[in-house]
Amino acid sequence: MEFAENKEFLGKVAVVSGGASGMSLCFAREWTRLGGNIVMSDVNLPALNKCVDEINTAGHGKAVGTECDVRDYGQVVATCKLAYDTFGRIDVVCNFAGGYAPRMLKVDSQKYTEFPDVPIEVFDWGLDVNLKGQFYFCHAATKYMREQNSGLIVNIGSITGVEGDRYGMEYPTAKAGVMYGLTKSVAQFGSSHGIRCVCIAPGPVLTRPEMANMKTLLHRAAEPQEIIDLILFIASEKGQFINGDTILCDGGRAAMPRG
Ligand SMILES: NC(=O)c1ccc[n+]([C@@H]2O[C@H](COP(=O)([O-])OP(=O)(O)OC[C@H]3O[C@@H](n4cnc5c(N)ncnc54)[C@H](O)[C@@H]3O)[C@@H](O)[C@H]2O)c1
Repeated sequence: MEFAENKEFLGKVAVVSGGASGMSLCFAREWTRLGGNIVMSDVNLPALNKCVDEINTAGHGKAVGTECDVRDYGQVVATCKLAYDTFGRIDVVCNFAGGYAPRMLKVDSQKYTEFPDVPIEVFDWGLDVNLKGQFYFCHAATKYMREQNSGLIVNIGSITGVEGDRYGMEYPTAKAGVMYGLTKSVAQFGSSHGIRCVCIAPGPVLTRPEMANMKTLLHRAAEPQEIIDLILFIASEKGQFINGDTILCDGGRAAMPRG
C-alpha cells in the first residue's frame, strides 16, 4: 500500500515488540519507508541490532533498537520510555512478540505426546508472552498516549484464538484473551483519551514456509506484507473509525465448511 504521497506517517512514532523477525520486522521496514520513526524491541538483541542497522542504512525514518523480553514489565516500561525520550511521543504500538510455545521452545512432541504431558513451564511461557506481554505494553503505553490524548495500540491475535488447539492450549487461550478481552477493554478506557485499540488475528502467514500447509479458502497463506498493509490502513487517516474490534485476516479460513 502506498501512503507516501500524503506523508501522513512522517515523523510519527511507533513501538514494536518482536522486532527482529517476521511481521514485526516487515512493519518496521514499511513504517520507516513511509517516514515514521520506530523503537524496535526484541528478546534477541544480536538479531535485532542487524535489523535496526539495515533500516537506518536505508535512510528513511529512524530506528532505535532495545532488548525487551515482554514477560518483564520493567523492560516493557523502559521500552516505552525510550520511545518517548528519543522521539517525544508514541503514536502506534504493535504487540507482535509471540508464538506457539511448543514450537518456540522446541518441545519434543514424540516425548510429550498429549496436552497433559507437556511441562507446565512451556505453557507458562506461552501465556506470559502471548497474553501478559501484550497486556504489559497496553498498560505502559497508555500512560503516554493518555498524556498526548492520542494513540493506537495494535494487538496480535490468531485464527487459533477462534479454533482452539488440543495440544498447545496456551496459544488459543492467550490469543482469545487478547482478541476478546484486552482489545475491547483498552478501547473502552481509551475512548475518553483519544486512544484506539484494535486486534489483528491472522490466519497462516508466510513468516515460515510451513505455514503454507495450513488450509484457507484462498488455497494459500498470507504474505507478511498483506497483514502489515491492513495495520497501516488502520493507522492511517482512512482507518480512524476502526476501534475495539478483532479483525480476522485469514484468507477465509474461519469461513471454511466444517467436517
Ligand atoms: N506466522 C503466522 O502464521 C501467524 C499466524 C497468526 C498469528 N501470528 C502471530 O503474529 C505474531 C508475529 O508472528 P511472526 O510469525 O511474525 O513471528 P516470528 O516467530 O517471526 O517472530 C517472533 C519474534 O518474537 C521474538 N520473541 C520471542 N519471545 C519474545 C519475548 N519473550 N519477548 C520479546 N520478543 C520475543 C522473537 O525473538 C522473534 O523475533 C505472533 O504474535 C504470532 O503468534 C502469526
